Amino acid sequence: MTVLITGATGFLGSRIAHELLLTRNQQVIALGRGGLADLRDRVVTAIGLHGAVPGDALLRLRCVTGDVTLPRLGLTPALHARLAGQVDSVWHCAADIALGGERERLFRVNTQGTAHVLAFMDQTGPACRLVHVSTMAVAGSRPDGLVLEDDLTDVHGFATHYAASKYAAEQLVRQWAARRARPAVVLRPSLVASDRPLPDSAAEHPLAQLGNMVKVLVEGGAPGLPPAADRPPGTEMRMRIKASPSATFNIVPSDYATEAMVRIGHDAPCRDTGVRTYHIVHPTPTELADVLRAFERLYTGLRLECVEEFDGASVTELFIARYLTGFLSYCWFRHRFDRTHALADTPGLPEPAPVDARFLQRALGFDVLPASSPG
Ligand SMILES: NC(=O)c1ccc[n+]([C@@H]2O[C@H](COP(=O)([O-])OP(=O)(O)OC[C@H]3O[C@@H](n4cnc5c(N)ncnc54)[C@H](OP(=O)(O)O)[C@@H]3O)[C@@H](O)[C@H]2O)c1
Repeated sequence: MTVLITGATGFLGSRIAHELLLTRNQQVIALGRGGLADLRDRVVTAIGLHGAVPGDALLRLRCVTGDVTLPRLGLTPALHARLAGQVDSVWHCAADIALGGERERLFRVNTQGTAHVLAFMDQTGPACRLVHVSTMAVAGSRPDGLVLEDDLTDVHGFATHYAASKYAAEQLVRQWAARRARPAVVLRPSLVASDRPLPDSAAEHPLAQLGNMVKVLVEGGAPGLPPAADRPPGTEMRMRIKASPSATFNIVPSDYATEAMVRIGHDAPCRDTGVRTYHIVHPTPTELADVLRAFERLYTGLRLECVEEFDGASVTELFIARYLTGFLSYCWFRHRFDRTHALADTPGLPEPAPVDARFLQRALGFDVLPASSPG
């Protein structure tokens, strides 16, 4: 079986490509940007971070230079047609995941990019399966309640252009499947995180990015906040952030998310027609307060308080509000995610590890807890 995958150099795409290549023994074609030799190096390095890639697996890996923002995925008409005739499934993982990114770019990569993948699907045989990687963020700014896997609505609006662009992409997938009477699998992971240290060359996950941003802020300083080296030890840094104190996130460990996605997108039998959507989420949401406590435990003197109204914000607080716009835009909700489809198609898969204080601390990029900290 031959799988074409986009986004194989990314945090999630590289994990999926690793599983497809090594545990499912597939022929994998990785479509990505850049010159061929450089692309192959980046794909092999990214996949290799998840376990050794033996020579026979490397022989089953092929790379193709392309760009999802371009018509025909940037392929020549001949290569586009040839690849479409070869593949048994297409995993579309490539995306721009910048939460605070600009609208035009996010729609170009995430929505238009999906349209180009669907045009590729049009050229494939009827049995070729599409696995589209979406996100829980398509639930939008729904304040609370249970989001079902079949739900797809824009009535609540979207906190970020990222969420809106991925919603629009899912709509395209549904329209395509209905128009062509073809099946498609849509996977909606929540915030995927790893509690293992990542080498500098690895693609980061959003929690690690958040940890780095706060580190830069607290250690390097910000308007109104001197760098750590210029502050007397133990200086209190009391800051308010504009967020709901009762907000929750869904954070799902990458090991579980990858295995669930591959079992659903690859191992489970393909339905004849129609879109089947799956929430790849943790059964227990994480409180925003627990994420903030993780930062406070690391930085002595740091006190973070959530406020819904921002009266008389200090220059530092205003800076943080701008600097962390993407993250803070998700700090208002308490919605939860139904897992009926995901549980039905992953029988026997153990539940994900708990996202506890230790997991959070490591996922945020702080490998070692201070000795006095609770686990
Ligand atoms: N990480 C999460 O927590 C999370 C949560 C929910 C959903 N998701 C979804 O999961 C998927 C994978 O995310 P990720 O975390 O792996 O993202 P990532 O680490 O940022 O990787 C993005 C991938 O997309 C590729 N890409 C970007 N623009 C492209 C273009 N124009 N043409 C071809 N390839 C392009 C990148 O290639 P380069 O190496 O060339 O940049 C990279 O391989 C995305 O669809 C995302 O929306 C992720």
